[in-house]
Amino acid sequence: MKTVLTISQAAELIGVSKETLRRWDRCGKLPAIRQPMSSYRLYNEEQLMIFKDLNPEIENITKQTTVTPLREYKVLELFAGAGGLAIGLEKAGLKCVALNEVDHWAAETLRMNRPNWNVIEADVRNVSFSHLLGKVDVVTGGFPCQAFSYAGKKLGLQDARGTLFYEFARAVQETQPSICIGENVRGLLNHDNGRTLKGMISILDELGYRVLEPQVLRAVQYNVPQKRERLILVGIRKDVEVDFHYPKPNNKLYTLRDALKKGSLFDTDVPHSFGTKYPLSKSKVLDLVPPGGYWRDLPLDLQKEYMQKSFFLGGGKTGMARRISWNEPCLTLTCSPAQKQTERCHPDETRPFTVREYARIQTFPDDWTFAGSMSAQYKQIGNAVPVNLALAVGKSIVGFLNDQTVKESQNSIALAEA
Ligand SMILES: C[S@@+](CC[C@H](N)C(=O)[O-])C[C@H]1O[C@@H](n2cnc3c(N)ncnc32)[C@H](O)[C@@H]1O
Repeated sequence: MKTVLTISQAAELIGVSKETLRRWDRCGKLPAIRQPMSSYRLYNEEQLMIFKDLNPEIENITKQTTVTPLREYKVLELFAGAGGLAIGLEKAGLKCVALNEVDHWAAETLRMNRPNWNVIEADVRNVSFSHLLGKVDVVTGGFPCQAFSYAGKKLGLQDARGTLFYEFARAVQETQPSICIGENVRGLLNHDNGRTLKGMISILDELGYRVLEPQVLRAVQYNVPQKRERLILVGIRKDVEVDFHYPKPNNKLYTLRDALKKGSLFDTDVPHSFGTKYPLSKSKVLDLVPPGGYWRDLPLDLQKEYMQKSFFLGGGKTGMARRISWNEPCLTLTCSPAQKQTERCHPDETRPFTVREYARIQTFPDDWTFAGSMSAQYKQIGNAVPVNLALAVGKSIVGFLNDQTVKESQNSIALAEA
């Protein structure tokens, strides 16, 4: 079967804009195939191989770009927030059958954008998932990271009681999916000297899941214009005989310009929206910092005044008085856009990013709206898994489940023939 790409996928793959592709189609340089009903432009994977020089990873990426689910795969998403992970999984072709979230405004965001989603707004500790036993293929969740006692012995589920990882593992136990995926901050690797992560792996193993070597994925390698990292923890039910492959990174580096301006990542400039402002005292300082610069670009007396004790403490502190440049990926967004330690000032204007700019940097689509006050919106966006990173992970999940589907049908044919 030939792999077919949409114009957006083809543009992303070879790193040109959709308009360029339309032009190349019109002049015959790269003729598109037309979809019979809609007349949309489509491209064969082979056609794009002549652009290998532009993107050496092209073969790997086409493999990732185009997995189509062989049947409907269902996801239970815990700690769903404003839906960054859920949208990415949906874009990869997975179906979210239930999403749990305790925060009212995040739950409202999910309901507002996807009235058909089954959003369970409740503390996960009070929710049973037993009714989904055997009905979901995947359980996902970005559980907040908490320590639990681990003294080198093998841990069981009860040892994690009281933590939110316990709730994630309990949902896995109650529903028995083929695969479970936890996402977290890189810090989980070293949390409690690595004991927290070891304990989690031990518990999932005890529940009947083979846990792969956790990997830290750098969002910037998955079409996200931001230097954000997420740790991914994958457990595969032990009776499932196929492997999961982490998404392959690609070479194309997107910058803040790609996030906020019309180009290969978005079809338009970022829409206008509200955003928070700096107090005058901070504006006066940041006015003196050039794009790509930070506190060290200030005159020495101002450096001392602004940094106070931190001035003498050493360390780069490159997030302080930081102005992002158009030509770099944005630094990791946090839950609040104007914090002294993690400043991310707009390149041309002395102000924090607006809500829609924040959403773009996390690769949320422009039509995904957020509920609640301005600070509630920033918080939901800052907490999210970037949509394009989630999409890459989602494609790997689809690939895994497709392999499982094929394997199971081969096994049943062999059984029937025996
Ligand atoms: C890191 S965020 C998840 C982000 C989300 N995966 C996304 O991509 O947008 C963690 C979420 O867990 C939620 N949460 C924390 N404690 C919870 C609990 N006890 N029950 C349900 N949700 C909880 C928080 O409100 C927050 O939205």
